[in-house]
Amino acid sequence: MKALVTGGTGTVRSKVIDELLHRGVSVRALSRNQRTAKLPVGVETLVGDLLDPVSVEKALEGVDKLYLLNAVAPDELTQGLIAVDLAKRLKLQQIVYHSVFKAEVFKDVPHFASKLAIENALREFDLPFTIVRPNYFYQNDLALKDAITKAGVYPVPLGTTGISAVDVRDIAEAAAIALTGDGHLGKTYNLNGPDILNGDCVASIWSKLLGKPIRYGGHDMDAFEEEMRTKSPSWSAFDIRMMFQGYLERGFTAGKCDVEALTKLLGHPPRRYEDFAKEAASAWAAA
Ligand SMILES: NC(=O)c1ccc[n+]([C@@H]2O[C@H](COP(=O)([O-])OP(=O)(O)OC[C@H]3O[C@@H](n4cnc5c(N)ncnc54)[C@H](OP(=O)(O)O)[C@@H]3O)[C@@H](O)[C@H]2O)c1
Repeated sequence: MKALVTGGTGTVRSKVIDELLHRGVSVRALSRNQRTAKLPVGVETLVGDLLDPVSVEKALEGVDKLYLLNAVAPDELTQGLIAVDLAKRLKLQQIVYHSVFKAEVFKDVPHFASKLAIENALREFDLPFTIVRPNYFYQNDLALKDAITKAGVYPVPLGTTGISAVDVRDIAEAAAIALTGDGHLGKTYNLNGPDILNGDCVASIWSKLLGKPIRYGGHDMDAFEEEMRTKSPSWSAFDIRMMFQGYLERGFTAGKCDVEALTKLLGHPPRRYEDFAKEAASAWAAA
C-alpha cells in the first residue's frame, strides 16, 4: 500500500511517517521544499503546494491512501477542499483527515471553522474518510524552554477549566492504525490525553520537575494577542487568540469515553503530560 502524507516538514508529519514505515507502508511526502535530508530512507518526496491543484494531482497519482494535514493558513479551507476533491476524482481508497477536537463548538475560530467545513465535505460527498480530531499538542510546549526554565513562567493561557492535551506520538500512532487497519472508514476519532490540564496544574508539574517555582502567567487575552503579533502574522495572532479564548469560555476537555476509545484504538493508554514534560526537561538539561 502506498500513502501520501501532507504536512510538509511539520511536527506531526515525521511521526506519522515513522509509524507508517514501521507498518510496511510505502510513503510519499508532500512538501513545498526539497528537504529530503530530513526524511527517513525510502520515503519519496514530492515538491508541491496544497494550494496548487496541478501539484496536488501529481502527488496523488499512484497512491492508494492520503493522510491530509493542512497547516493553519488563511486559505486552509481551499487547500483542504482541493485535496479532498482530487482524492475523490482519483478514487483513492481512504483519506485520513487531520482535523481538531470539538471543531463544531469553535466555529468562531477561523482554523476550526475551516476544518469543520472540510469534515462536512468528506461526509456529504460520500468519500472514504476517517477523521482524527486531536486536542492541543503536548509538543507545542517544547517552544517554551526559555519561558519556563529562565523566566519561571508557564505562559500559555490555559485558564482554569483546562484542556485534554495529547502527545503527538499518540496522534501519529492513531493515524497509522486508521490508515492500515480494517473497519475505520466513516469513523471519527477524538484524540485526547488522559489528564485535564489547566494553567496552575501545568505550572505545578513544571515546578515539581525543575525543583523551583514556575508560575502560571494568567490569561489576559489582549496582552496575549499583542505578544503573538510580535512573532506571527496578525491574522494568525487573532486566530490563536480566539482559540484560547474559546478554551477559557467553553473548555477543551475530553470525557471519560473519549479517553477509553483512544486507549482501545491504540492498544495502550494515551501518554501523560507529566511524562512528556519529564522527557523535555531531561533533553533541555542535557542540551
Ligand atoms: N498544534 C496543536 O496543538 C494542534 C492541535 C490540534 C490540531 N492541530 C492542527 O494540526 C495542524 C498542524 O500540524 P503540525 O503542527 O504538524 O504542522 P505545522 O508544524 O504547522 O506544519 C505544517 C507543514 O505544512 C507544510 N505546508 C504549509 N503550507 C503548505 C502548502 N500550502 N502546501 C503544502 N504544504 C504546506 C509546511 O511544510 P513545508 O514548508 O515543508 O512545505 C509546514 O511545515 C493544523 O491543521 C492544526 O490546526 C494542531
